Amino acid sequence: MGILKTIKRKTILLGNLFSKNFIIKGKNIIITGSNSGIGLELLNKLSRENNIIALVNKSLENINYKKNIKIIQNNFENLEFDETFIEELNDFKPNILINSAANFGPENQFLENINSKDFQKIININVLAPLRLIQICLGSNNLRQIMNITSGMGSLTNGHDGGYYYYRTSKTMLNSISKNIAYDLKNKKINLFCLQPGNVKTKMNSSGIISAEFSAQKIINILGEDNSNFSGKLIDINRNILNW
Ligand SMILES: NC(=O)c1ccc[n+]([C@@H]2O[C@H](COP(=O)([O-])OP(=O)(O)OC[C@H]3O[C@@H](n4cnc5c(N)ncnc54)[C@H](OP(=O)(O)O)[C@@H]3O)[C@@H](O)[C@H]2O)c1
Repeated sequence: MGILKTIKRKTILLGNLFSKNFIIKGKNIIITGSNSGIGLELLNKLSRENNIIALVNKSLENINYKKNIKIIQNNFENLEFDETFIEELNDFKPNILINSAANFGPENQFLENINSKDFQKIININVLAPLRLIQICLGSNNLRQIMNITSGMGSLTNGHDGGYYYYRTSKTMLNSISKNIAYDLKNKKINLFCLQPGNVKTKMNSSGIISAEFSAQKIINILGEDNSNFSGKLIDINRNILNW
């Protein structure tokens, strides 16, 4: 790891040495992308004191199975959410939905080679699946919080690079949808947080500078506070409001 990266990481950790860590208890929580990275760390922490539905894509080998964790496999690529799936989620009476799953898509996302088939796949996974899950979870009337994990790459204001069409655009769409839904759910007193998790070392980002464990705890702190002032806003893990 380069010296600059080490200094940056240590500064972040030092700055958070005395911050209070929340513990969420007794909730029914759905976490997508539970087998890897931030989703897996959220699962590890939240499964200590809550009931969890862990949504996974292909594999579940990283999950430390406990009886309060129900694992459901679903590849979001084709948006196949059948009646059994919907019923299972409704019967669970979710209080919190965390949309962490996302797919970066192929490395080759240049203007010359993007195509609508691959584009649609990434939009299904990163945008339409989170949206559909929100709709389904609203069905049981127990939902109180939604956490949509987005990316700084989706910010129209801060984007200064080209390329990465599928991923970047999908996150911009997720941001837009998140703001819309937050308005629609305001009267129901359901908070929707649209959060940029930081530069996190995971399968998706091997050069990340903070750990998934660190980012997950910060996300839990935001859920624990449940501050409606941040609902419908683009925020980072330190509760800074960012430009869309
Ligand atoms: N790491 C960062 O620095 C960073 C920065 C900004 C935003 N984010 C966001 O943070 C969230 C978590 O990402 P991560 O860094 O933890 O990456 P990760 O370790 O690659 O996790 C992504 C998760 O999404 C799941 N997923 C991918 N394709 C799927 C599909 N077709 N159907 C269902 N699930 C699918 C993966 O499951 P499989 O492994 O089984 O395919 C995996 O569990 C994502 O929304 C990402 O965009 C991360």
